[in-house]
Amino acid sequence: MQTKVTKAIFPVAGFGTRFLPATKSIPKEMLPLVDRPLIQYAIDEARAAGITDFIFVTSRGKSALEDYFDSAPELETALAENGKDALLATLQQTVMGSGAVAYVRQHERLGLGHAVWCARHLIGDEPFAVILPDDVIDADTPCLKQMVDAYGEFGGNMVAAMEVAPDQVSAYGILVVGSERGPALSVRGMVEKPKPADAPSNLAIIGRYILSPRVFKHLDALKLGAGGEIQLTDAIAKEIVEADNVHGYRFSGRRFDCGSKPGFLQATVAFGLQREELEDEFAAYLEGAMAEYRQRHTAKTAAAARVAAR
Ligand code: G1P
Repeated sequence: MQTKVTKAIFPVAGFGTRFLPATKSIPKEMLPLVDRPLIQYAIDEARAAGITDFIFVTSRGKSALEDYFDSAPELETALAENGKDALLATLQQTVMGSGAVAYVRQHERLGLGHAVWCARHLIGDEPFAVILPDDVIDADTPCLKQMVDAYGEFGGNMVAAMEVAPDQVSAYGILVVGSERGPALSVRGMVEKPKPADAPSNLAIIGRYILSPRVFKHLDALKLGAGGEIQLTDAIAKEIVEADNVHGYRFSGRRFDCGSKPGFLQATVAFGLQREELEDEFAAYLEGAMAEYRQRHTAKTAAAARVAAR
């Protein structure tokens, strides 16, 4: 079986309810961090890891995503006529070669495992990556590239892993950790969204996976799991039992949960401060804004203390 990872699945079928009303007519994956939509960060990371086939699992209302990866002849002509070469070059990042992108519809929202399963015919008998665009990872070596390199050594299945606060475990797939070798560790079990009291650790799965096609066989047979959904975590857990070849990878880099408002705002600030053309003005603004915030906060605390002392 081929071991080179050239295909990636991007599950993008969710409603994005946490960002309503914006996501009423814009797919969540098109919300911009500074000036690039979330999906562009995911695509760039995939490209850096050697991915050449991009498979999007979409749903109704996601056509803006398809347009985004298409050429835009009128816009390109207008930019060329006006000598806007830098902008033209920026647009080039978004155009995918003919046949490099495929779209599969998920007709029912039955969970992440089901979304991945919908792409099974486009994967065939080879390992593949899954990237959840909500998880944006800022790293010197892009996260999936770190994992592809490690996967060359370990094979099997690999999930990105990161420690989360113990009271946050119920938002994640959580790993039962076995022996560790550098950033890689063998996974003895995994449980989707456990209650904090039942969590086997606080090492969470982050949205980057390299999976064996055997996972589709497990997804075929799965029943609804946590939250009444077909869980990818449950299918990978079956691989632990049957093949004992699942690894976690503690990636280097900073992960932002752009599926949540605080995470999205943090990513906006972090990426804004990294842009040469913005950093001075933006940093000066942030310093002023923080000073104002502290003043307001101090005044509020003082007022509350006065009320309490009455
Ligand atoms: C999904 C996975 C979960 C993983 C998380 C990472 O959950 O099911 O195992 O820890 O992504 O972001 P979701 O955030 O889609 O609920």
